[in-house]
Amino acid sequence: MIATASSVHSRKSRAVQDYTDGAGALDMHRVRQAFPIFKEKVYGKPLIYLDSAATSQKPLNVIDAMSRFFLMENANVHRGVHYLSERATEAYEGARSKVQRFLNAGDSHEIVFVRGTTEAINLVAQTYGRAHLRSGDEVLITAMEHHSNIVPWQMLCEQTGASLRVAPMDDAGCLILDEMEKRIGPRTKLVAVTHVSNALGTINPIRRIIDMAHAYNARVLVDGAQAAPHLNIDVRALDCDFYAISGHKMYGPTGIGVLYGKSELLNAMPPYQGGGDMIVSVSFEKSSYAVPPHKFEAGTPNMVGAVGLAAAIDFLSDVGGEALSEHESDVLTYGIRALSRMPMVRLIGAAPERVGVISFVLEDVHPHDIGTILDREGIAIRTGHHCAQPLMKHFGLPATARVSLACYNTREDIDALVEGLTKVQAVFQ
Ligand code: ALA
Repeated sequence: MIATASSVHSRKSRAVQDYTDGAGALDMHRVRQAFPIFKEKVYGKPLIYLDSAATSQKPLNVIDAMSRFFLMENANVHRGVHYLSERATEAYEGARSKVQRFLNAGDSHEIVFVRGTTEAINLVAQTYGRAHLRSGDEVLITAMEHHSNIVPWQMLCEQTGASLRVAPMDDAGCLILDEMEKRIGPRTKLVAVTHVSNALGTINPIRRIIDMAHAYNARVLVDGAQAAPHLNIDVRALDCDFYAISGHKMYGPTGIGVLYGKSELLNAMPPYQGGGDMIVSVSFEKSSYAVPPHKFEAGTPNMVGAVGLAAAIDFLSDVGGEALSEHESDVLTYGIRALSRMPMVRLIGAAPERVGVISFVLEDVHPHDIGTILDREGIAIRTGHHCAQPLMKHFGLPATARVSLACYNTREDIDALVEGLTKVQAVFQ
């Protein structure tokens, strides 16, 4: 028998990294060492990165896995019998299985690789949505959605004649569930809701919302972009119909994301884009399509992105769990307290259940000025509307300053932020 790549080369089982100290807490020295970017200086100062909701920094194991792919495994997937193609396919499909376990999906065929959460949502809108929605039907979203969970549904509604409805939130930045429930009924075909607000950090009671929607046979898509780096996600326990994540928010590379969809839905959905790898056969008269997930992955996929995402999942599993959530919640609580003590600071949103996001404004100071002055201190935050203009409108603001945390942030980062904000206040007093 001729040996093939998979019989010759089996991917070595990886060495698990321990990021905890003897007492079970995160060893922050070790965690920060995993991120080479923290060796960089910004204007001669140490980098304080408080913008992870925009994109997280990348640990060395992700960078290494991606270079290793290019150095040793690069070839096109699913197409060749040659050694490298088999090896690349093994890496790509291995990444899919890793994502399946990460989300606790029942089958790796339920994992579709896409460019990111935005593409995942557009895929559902343009395939499931166009196949199932008609004039008179309704799509329900919420007042705290990112533009990527608003605009694709508006486009779908324009195309189909369906209507877009919006569930409100209160001034703490929490969804008003009674009001949401009133907006779900026999016309509701789809509910699209974020698991975690990118602008406020609010964690939504997703399981309850899914039950409310399923009571009327509406399908539910969950935007999990901001949840994936912080929460354990179990799509089977949630019973969601679709769940979308982005690699780059969860320590992985940009340009790769995942759409999870229940098998029976993906099987019945028409394809998204046409091209190579998504077909069984093609003739000028008619083409027939592959089964999911390949039906939704036309063209050469982002193989190295998938490999990087798999390495990010390894990193999260090594650093994650109790120690990570305790650490992030400690830095968040410390940050909220520190900022509340500053007289000019007004915090925006006060959800009791939230991840490490703090949105705020400073009296009489434009958020962009805050961001620019902090930048000169080596502190990176995001300022603006955070791709959530309707949420900003709710609070009567054009923009906020936003601090967003990840595993590498410390109380010292918050101290530096407070010192930086004191300088901002001094400039504008
Ligand atoms: N969605 C990203 C953010 O919240 C870009 O910053």
